[in-house]
Amino acid sequence: MDFRLNDEQQMFRDTIRKFAQKEIAPIAAQTDSTHQFPLETLKKLADMGLMGLPIPEEYGGAGSDYVTFAILVEEIAKVCASTAVILSVHTGLGCMSTYMFGNEEQKERYLKPLCEGKMLGAFALTEPQAGSDAAALKCTAVRKGDKYILNGSKIFITNGGYADMYVTFVRTDPSTKNYNGVTCLIVDKDTPGLVIGKPEEKMGLNGSATVTLTFEDAEVPVENRLLEEGKGFNVAMGLLNGGRITIGAQGLGIAQGALDLTIPYVKGREQFGKPLSAQQGIQFMLADMATEIDASRLLIYRAAWLKSNGLEHAMEASMAKRFATDTAMRVTTDCVQLFGGYGYCKEYQIERYMRDAKITQIYEGANQIQRLVIAKQLLK
Ligand code: CAA
Repeated sequence: MDFRLNDEQQMFRDTIRKFAQKEIAPIAAQTDSTHQFPLETLKKLADMGLMGLPIPEEYGGAGSDYVTFAILVEEIAKVCASTAVILSVHTGLGCMSTYMFGNEEQKERYLKPLCEGKMLGAFALTEPQAGSDAAALKCTAVRKGDKYILNGSKIFITNGGYADMYVTFVRTDPSTKNYNGVTCLIVDKDTPGLVIGKPEEKMGLNGSATVTLTFEDAEVPVENRLLEEGKGFNVAMGLLNGGRITIGAQGLGIAQGALDLTIPYVKGREQFGKPLSAQQGIQFMLADMATEIDASRLLIYRAAWLKSNGLEHAMEASMAKRFATDTAMRVTTDCVQLFGGYGYCKEYQIERYMRDAKITQIYEGANQIQRLVIAKQLLK
């Protein structure tokens, strides 16, 4: 057993760290305050071949392992959590959808341009009445010849409005109310009858677009279906098992980025005649943060390693996501506390980390749902 990253992974981490510090960190506060979708940064990531990192080279990806992909998301989240989620959803759910479940024709049509950054991917599962209870989704798709006619709506769709393809989950069998009647279709952005709503005003993650999609008799060709009718829930869960690893990595990056900002601050800030860092109570807080961040990293890399090696990883992905994102919330809240009044002011940036951390406990399965997934595996 070896707990170190290999030489290639270390070199990759160092390169991305430098890139993120130089190209993303300086604009992260502005991305947050202007709510600007970071198209320029995505172009740079595409130029570096980073939009389809874990996809084999024959399909336009970089052929990296999943640990390397987690490192990419972690390093970017350290400076800009918005950019990190855009990439996590695009690659982990968008690219992975056709790579894991698509036929060769679908791979040719979607996977290559997604990996090259010529297309952006999104994932449309959640509905107004079906969030944690995803299997209760109501969006319908009625087959008419070689097309499905879609009606209904999806909410909280990350990358919505900028994405070129939406991996969409619909009910093709109206006689079912559970996961058995769910089918997965790729909906192209210019599909007639697909209406894209206004971006949500959110607490954080302001650089990432989150929209409602409405289908009004939207026509989707049957050839855009992933797997057979009724197998859509398998697609959703299979993708989320991987997506949850990089959402964990996003939480990890947010926590590490916040701690990295806090250490120099507590060393420089003097109260009661000595630096804050010389106070034992504050040292205890820092030690707990560093320990939980390290534990998060180990859980994430383990889950990523399992996925890379084609091993079962649903429980480990949920453990990693649950722990790392709860850690992100705790650490960022404590970091704001250590900055005191300054921490509450935007100028110091630490409050952005706390706002961005909150959603990581909610999306890609609220952390209560991760516990259900873990318990189900434990008890089966
Ligand atoms: N991996 C593989 N299979 C899974 C699975 C997993 N993690 N979780 C459930 N399944 C399978 C089950 O084994 C079962 O299949 P079988 O009957 O063949 O065994 C089937 O799915 C149904 O499972 P349950 O009986 O447990 O179904 P349920 O309806 O009671 O619960 C759930 C399912 C786990 C709660 C599921 O609905 C869920 O994960 N909910 C959370 C939804 C979610 O994660 N949404 C994310 C939205 S995307 C997003 O957030 C992206 C973004 O913007 C960042």
